[in-house]
Amino acid sequence: MKMTPALLIVGALMVFWASTFVIIGLPVMTMSDKPSEIWRPMTSAEREGHRLYVQNGCSYCHSLFIRINDWDIGAERIAESGDYVAQEPAILGSERTGPDLSQEGGEHSDDWHKAHFINPRYTSPISLMPSWEFLGEEKIRKLTAYIQALGWKMADVRVARQQQWKQQAVTAYESGADANIKWLHGQVPVVWRPMPNPYPASPAALLRGKRIYQEFCINCHGPIGDGKGPAASHLYPPPLDFTTLRRHLEANRYIGGIFYYQIMNGITGTAMPYFKKHLESEKIWDLANYLGVSFLGYTDANIGPRGIDASFEELWRNQYRPPSKTGE
Ligand code: HEC
Ligand code: HEC
Repeated sequence: MKMTPALLIVGALMVFWASTFVIIGLPVMTMSDKPSEIWRPMTSAEREGHRLYVQNGCSYCHSLFIRINDWDIGAERIAESGDYVAQEPAILGSERTGPDLSQEGGEHSDDWHKAHFINPRYTSPISLMPSWEFLGEEKIRKLTAYIQALGWKMADVRVARQQQWKQQAVTAYESGADANIKWLHGQVPVVWRPMPNPYPASPAALLRGKRIYQEFCINCHGPIGDGKGPAASHLYPPPLDFTTLRRHLEANRYIGGIFYYQIMNGITGTAMPYFKKHLESEKIWDLANYLGVSFLGYTDANIGPRGIDASFEELWRNQYRPPSKTGE
């Protein structure tokens, strides 16, 4: 066949329409306008927060859809087109400089978000997210309302849990240091409370703990662990003053397992985040040793057996000792 200008144009148009069909036609045909089972309409404050999200280019760093290959926040549910009904414009974003936010609602307490928007370094000391303090209090409140709605009905359940626990946390905090410690430690399962730190508090481990503390905790709990980091004035209850835990030690020799459990899981209802997605197990034990040695002058490392395994607690409780080599 001879190449003519007419043929060239026809060919180019065919390629154009074929790719338009694949890129636009097919997705539109598979999309549904039907709300998904988690969808709900936005309130007016959430809607205004959504506008702020679009206007401020949050989507240059955050996406709003969970894919099958994701591990991060909310990864247990893959996004569906029905999650985005009546969102104008629905900007999904493709950059994931920051975490995906489509299930962000209820991940943190409202006061965490406020401190984080005013200055992300307050809650996440090495964050590169810009500060949004210039938006002012009212707009930050609306942005927070939108962020807390992300995940819709699934988020509502998490937000309700945050609020319920917040009431308890505030009551405990207002009842004084002893009552607060009692409440905080009451949240830790019984088997974790008498668990000593299985890793030695060697100088190297303490330095590792210090570094992790600086990267994740310092702007809430403060450089000397007194809970007076720059985030503190935005948080209620404020970050724990670790030195108050010296009271706990008067009647108790264990603190490692409590620290471990609280750092791993966070304290729902307060701004204390969970770190199980950021820190491996051994790093959390290093942190626990660092908190103890630096702020309490005490760690329970080496009271119990070294290293930890699945049956640790039972063996420790039963005073188990491995049989000697001769099999006695
Ligand atoms: C330059 C990139 C960038 C921009 C722009 C940006 N963020 Fe972020 N964001 C990040 C990074 C990185 C993190 C993770 C560290 C942290 O917690 O700050 C993050 C974290 C977050 C988190 C906490 C997620 C979690 O649970 O850990 C929220 C909520 C959030 N951003 C909302 C926003 C909103 C709303 C905007 C727009 C007003 C925005 N971000 C703009 C980079 C960005
Ligand atoms: C956004 C602020 C914030 C950050 C960041 C933060 N915390 Fe907290 N932390 C809190 C708040 C708030 C509490 C609870 C205070 C209360 O209810 O009285 C708390 C409580 C705790 C407790 C409970 C202690 C106990 O005996 O029950 C531990 C342990 C702790 N934080 C360790 C850490 C460590 C380690 C990091 C860093 C990996 C960290 N926190 C990061 C705010 C924060």
